[in-house]
Amino acid sequence: MKVTAIILAAGKGSRMQSEIKKQYMMIKERPVIWYSLNAFSESSVDEIVLVTGEEEIEYCRKIVEDNAFKKVKHIVKGGKERYNSVYEGLLAAKDSSYVLIHDGARPAISIPVIEKCIEYVKKSGACIIGVPVKDTIKVIDDKGYVVNTPARETLWSIQTPQAFSYEIIMNAYKKMFDGNSVSVTDDSMIVELYTGTKVEIVEGEYTNIKITTKEDIITAENFL
Ligand code: CTP
Ligand code: MG
Repeated sequence: MKVTAIILAAGKGSRMQSEIKKQYMMIKERPVIWYSLNAFSESSVDEIVLVTGEEEIEYCRKIVEDNAFKKVKHIVKGGKERYNSVYEGLLAAKDSSYVLIHDGARPAISIPVIEKCIEYVKKSGACIIGVPVKDTIKVIDDKGYVVNTPARETLWSIQTPQAFSYEIIMNAYKKMFDGNSVSVTDDSMIVELYTGTKVEIVEGEYTNIKITTKEDIITAENFL
């Protein structure tokens, strides 16, 4: 029952507007991607697949070797969209029973959250990490007016890892690629849209932020 983490680092980081891609920026003298590699290496996952840009494969191989991240079995080239990168990771993880898909841009992922994710995916086949929203969230129209205000208790902010049985996620991806393209923003959405699987929510931590813009670097630094 092999459990594999797929760590994504093949994005362009366009919203960061920095010379160095956000997943390779330094926090406390280590590249952002190091933190996810370290957390998953110290967790009970069996193997890690790292998905990166073609130009960064060598650099990533060096990080993996220098730090003796022995669970990293494959470093593969990502694709144009996030879901293309995930699919490349899934192909490399083909002998796994479960996969945990994680944004390399979330360096503050904790080992207890990873373990909780593994425990739940083995039970339900599909689970995602999230936290209850603290703000009131409004649905708005394209002219900037409020349409309605969903009850806050029903709203969660979703992070990664998102974990699935290999069969469920592969099946969902294949159906997506076979059908008409829709804009998906996370892997759970693909499972929700293309399979009958119910996705379980697992409470994570507010510190598990995704680095997107400059100020996130400072916040992440405080959490690490
Ligand atoms: N990612 C990826 N392949 C892509 C796009 C994204 O592996 N084609 C990864 C990113 O490296 C990141 C994670 O998916 O770790 C979440 O994506 P996001 O935060 O949107 O990162 P970017 O797409 O790189 O940033 P931006 O949207 O600002 O360009
Ligand atoms: Mg993006």
